Amino acid sequence: MAISKENTRPCNMERINNVSLAEKFIDEQVALLKEQIKSGKVILALSGGVDSSVTAAILLKAVGNNLTCIHVNHGLLRKNESEQVIKVFKDELKADLIYVDATDRFLDKLAGVSDPESKRKIIGKEFIDVFDEEARKLASDGSYKFLAQGTIYPDILESDGVKAHHNVGGLPEGVKFELVEPLKFLYKDEVRIVGKVLGLPDNMIYRQPFPGPGLGVRCTGAITRDRLNALREADAIVREEIEKINPVPWQYFVTIPDIKSTGIKDGKRIMGWAAVIRCVDTVDAVTATVPEIPYSTLKLITERITKEVNGINRVLYDLSPKPIATIEWE
Ligand code: XMP
Repeated sequence: MAISKENTRPCNMERINNVSLAEKFIDEQVALLKEQIKSGKVILALSGGVDSSVTAAILLKAVGNNLTCIHVNHGLLRKNESEQVIKVFKDELKADLIYVDATDRFLDKLAGVSDPESKRKIIGKEFIDVFDEEARKLASDGSYKFLAQGTIYPDILESDGVKAHHNVGGLPEGVKFELVEPLKFLYKDEVRIVGKVLGLPDNMIYRQPFPGPGLGVRCTGAITRDRLNALREADAIVREEIEKINPVPWQYFVTIPDIKSTGIKDGKRIMGWAAVIRCVDTVDAVTATVPEIPYSTLKLITERITKEVNGINRVLYDLSPKPIATIEWE
């Protein structure tokens, strides 16, 4: 299926690879956003990742106080993620930020669902429902007409035939909001240059990407709370140890497939999950290579995960490049 014309990056659009092109892009987008939104009110789905953070910064320039950011904790975030988002945006950047803990409602809806596309669609629909409810709470007259999202071009490209990104193909029919997506024709590396020019801190701009459906795509098959918790703890250990090496890979995380294998503890058989470490280097996430990680780091991670995380009895390192494999396992 071809991507619609309005969702195709214009063929004459220059690749943003320097400050002046980023400045030009920002000026153009601010003008377009002012024209689209006028004096309307916007809510922004703020995950805290680079894409939604840069979207927030552009929108602040364009509509200022008419922007309200909403951070939804769907229960599929990394360890301490929401705390960090609140610290940066609310405490440091003084953004108008609402925090919604929707963990139970997402996990209840996802219970027993193993098909990856169905999971993404459930997450996409639930997101919109939460935003809809929050918008109504903010203004019952429906004045929050616009929903801003940090959609970038690979989300659109991959929703056409590879996977429904929760913010593109995963959106339910009949969405009431008018979408605002200033980054939808940019690749990740371009988003980072734009973020830098907008003055966002480096630790936000150079954060590794994290998918909108979060750990949901890394807890393959039907999500259970115990496997999700094990994944969250193992992922925190991997991030802590990988961040000590130099250079730090472009992306590094853990996936726990829905299979158990035999282990041994106190002379008895125990069935446990395998934590798969995934590290990749790439420019634009369209293709990716797998970096060599020091053996000592892999050994230490294995020791820590099997000792500190309940339910995991094996740790593997994924050597598959993209293509043939995608970066995420789902
Ligand atoms: P794949 O698995 O397609 O991932 O090779 C490419 C990059 O995109 C990230 N990713 C997502 N990001 N929403 C996002 O914002 C999503 O639904 C999504 N799925 C994958 C992935 O982590 C990798 O960096």
